[in-house]
Amino acid sequence: MDETRRRAYLEALGIEVWRTRTAPQAVSAGHGEASGALRSDAPAADGDGAPDEAWDALRRAVRECTKCPLHQTRTQSVFGVGDVRAEWLVVGEAPGAEEDRRGEPFVGRAGQLLDSMLKAIGLARGQNVYIANVLKSRPPGNRDPKPEEVASCLPYLARQIELIRPVLILAVGRIAAQNLLATDLPLGRLRGRVHSFGPLNSPLIVTYHPAYLLRTPADKRKAWEDLKFARSVFRELVARGTRH
Ligand code: URA
Repeated sequence: MDETRRRAYLEALGIEVWRTRTAPQAVSAGHGEASGALRSDAPAADGDGAPDEAWDALRRAVRECTKCPLHQTRTQSVFGVGDVRAEWLVVGEAPGAEEDRRGEPFVGRAGQLLDSMLKAIGLARGQNVYIANVLKSRPPGNRDPKPEEVASCLPYLARQIELIRPVLILAVGRIAAQNLLATDLPLGRLRGRVHSFGPLNSPLIVTYHPAYLLRTPADKRKAWEDLKFARSVFRELVARGTRH
């Protein structure tokens, strides 16, 4: 992405743009301003990604799922969207009203901000990014997910991760982060370091939920720090040839 577009995206995010004093450096963890699309040249672990049948079976299981009472109130389940060979996986909390209606994650106002956040680091929905939620069904009134709902639904996300084998997972928001990491630590304590998820030890970084950032724009700058950190970690992982 060229500098003009990057600046436009940062402005869309509501982030004041600061000029670096020196030319962009090679990336090291947590720093670096180099631009460019965030796709490595590495093929997926097994070349073409997981077989279509595996995805079809998982989609069907989610569509027909009745493991928790949310199936009674949802319009439809919201499976996830994007490139099934993506190197980036964004994980949110649960579908909201708009997502429940349209069957796609992050399509409301928070989704627009998420798209701007992704663009700010050279990513775009559907291009090397997959977007999913911890819960596949909308909790009524957008309440927080209940532990038993998460327990029922998390295996679907775990299977998505197993099929995608992303290089990096970006958990957006406290609910996604705490449930993926099985912790009660506040989001502020989870930011700024690389965690790992699941049996594949998939690297995972935490940032703010875009809906929170809409309510608290002063924290957008911290989210931008998280995104730069994620971008630099991603590049390090790719340089090391790590595809989980
Ligand atoms: N918030 C989420 O966490 N996920 C969505 O899909 C939409 C809003």
